[in-house]
Amino acid sequence: MSSDASTPMDNLSHEDRSFTPDPAFARDAVAQKTLYAEADADRLAFWAEQARELLTWDTDFTQTLDWSNPPFARWFGDGKLNAAYNALDRHVEAGNGDRVAIHFEGEPGDTRTYTYAQLTEEVKKAANAFTALGVAAGDRVAVYLPMIPEAVITMLACARIGAAHSVVFGGFSADALRSRIDDAEAKLVVTADGTWRRGKPSALKPAVDAALADGRSTVETVVVVKRNGEPVDWTEGRDTWWSDTVETASADHTAEAFEAEQPLYILYTSGTTGKPKGILHTTGGYLTQAAFTHRNVFDLRPETDVYWCTADIGWVTGHSYVVYGPLVNGATQLIYEGTPDTPHQGRWWELVQKYGVTILYTAPTAIRTMMKWGEDIPGGFDLSSLRVLGSVGEPINPEAWMWYRRVIGGDRCPIVDTWWQTETGAIMISPLPGVTATKPGSAQVPLPGITADVVDDTGAPVGDGEAGYLVIREPWPSMLRNIWGDPDRFVQTYWSRFEGMYFAGDGAKKDDDGDVWLLGRVDDVMNVSGHRLSTAEIESSLVGHPAVAEAAVVGAADETTGQAVIAFVILRGSAAGEDKETMSETLRQHVGKDIGAIAKPRKVLIVPELPKTRSGKIMRRLLKDVAEGREVGDATTLADGSVMNEIAADFAK
Ligand code: WT7
Repeated sequence: MSSDASTPMDNLSHEDRSFTPDPAFARDAVAQKTLYAEADADRLAFWAEQARELLTWDTDFTQTLDWSNPPFARWFGDGKLNAAYNALDRHVEAGNGDRVAIHFEGEPGDTRTYTYAQLTEEVKKAANAFTALGVAAGDRVAVYLPMIPEAVITMLACARIGAAHSVVFGGFSADALRSRIDDAEAKLVVTADGTWRRGKPSALKPAVDAALADGRSTVETVVVVKRNGEPVDWTEGRDTWWSDTVETASADHTAEAFEAEQPLYILYTSGTTGKPKGILHTTGGYLTQAAFTHRNVFDLRPETDVYWCTADIGWVTGHSYVVYGPLVNGATQLIYEGTPDTPHQGRWWELVQKYGVTILYTAPTAIRTMMKWGEDIPGGFDLSSLRVLGSVGEPINPEAWMWYRRVIGGDRCPIVDTWWQTETGAIMISPLPGVTATKPGSAQVPLPGITADVVDDTGAPVGDGEAGYLVIREPWPSMLRNIWGDPDRFVQTYWSRFEGMYFAGDGAKKDDDGDVWLLGRVDDVMNVSGHRLSTAEIESSLVGHPAVAEAAVVGAADETTGQAVIAFVILRGSAAGEDKETMSETLRQHVGKDIGAIAKPRKVLIVPELPKTRSGKIMRRLLKDVAEGREVGDATTLADGSVMNEIAADFAK
């Protein structure tokens, strides 16, 4: 990066608020500062100790890491274990069978509770059923399910028999499902008739039918959970009900131990170009880091906490922090099927109150949506059970961070802003609650045993106060092992940009204390007249204006300046009546004043909605198409497909 790279980022690092841990919290915290020194002294010994402490091994390992063929890592390579045994049976054997594993709440308000003993029994039945359907160790199973307990049961049943699951988010289309089924050559698909969304039944099975319509896929069987009772088409000989196949199966099943490097799952994530990448995770190292981070980053007390991660199992957050981390740690958690505004905008807070949720893990986009709805809504519920708040998925702007802390956390709960990726498998950079003095908007410090750094173009570490690229220097236990079926792409995408380092694709900056601030994907870093500008930073500035609820910024090609900043904003209810042109100009000036004239958007378009995927990620690529006057590209993963037509029409005016 050029030497002036850091200049436009300055407003982020001028954030000088900091919140020191409450002394009582710090004294009893699960994570203690000594973890950093331990890991620094001997990183591999540290991870070996975590693996033995947090997991139950059938055969102990003698080698912690085999890095003789980089970037292909083997962690705990000669050890053997079973993932489902670690998440289930051993808790029952330890006398905790009556502890609640899952409180489930459906969108219509139906509830179910599974103790560890009951969940173990359900998983054993599913394991027997899948085996009877011909699924064996090493096979792949596609999972296309809503947020219901059967999703967790299915994933753990696959793990139990050594088959890799490939969860496909329920919001993806039939085409997306088919390409993932084909790439992984899945034998079995587990789906549901449908789910509930915003009070209405929403179908899933028709997409599976469409995906398999030509009868030429590798899929032999489709198991269908009855969730919303909507009529479904049926293919005799291929389709079978969960109630006929799984619920009738025997609950006797002994888990077989597999090698630590047995594939646990494939999860597809979109790359910058081309087809989605099948990120491959394996068993021993992945479970070690998922459990370690879940315990230490959230200060977990399995006996007393009620943990709630709002992510869907279709994303990696749902894999590591709904399924594997919490269950391996023996935690009690809440799973909620539906949308946050059904039947009213206080649903989440009603759930926190009802279940006495103590740890909440969610995404900045959700927090900003709640801000938009107004603080009176959470204010109407008792949130005093909460004690730790987490954020994940994108940089959290200081404004949203402060709101989360004050309105949801009652100025009492530490916030952990956790940076990681599908590829990293588990949290990599985050404050530790009770240890780190937190700063609004920064993920701050690599976790013990993680060697994250910020480097310049040449791979040399940047100094404090400078920006560059986020890299990981040394292998970590939950790292991706490969891209399914495409080792060349694995090497090319992640290990070729900087010699001997993992390139995360994110821009980052170290502040004067050496703390890390994430600046968004490097593809989202704009270059305006030779100055680097972060979309995240301009968005943060816009959202800092009292009239703005949400903002998305893109760099549009410009003949003169290289790129120009284009902003799309949603106004808060209180500003909705303002004249749009005056408001746009006010906001341009606001950014100019906040960051510098160079960052002033060329255009601020006031829009009713932003294009978001169903997981809440803003699709800036589509906004960029509009800003550059192109036809809008593939919008099939949008939650609401009509949004882009409106924005494009407004932009052209
Ligand atoms: C990308 C990974 C990790 C689970 C959900 C997303 C961005 C993620 C943060 C954070 C700033 C973040 C990065 C990363 N990201 N967490 N706390 N602060 N940026 O997983 O879909 O694989 O996306 O999300 O850009 O590269 P993913």
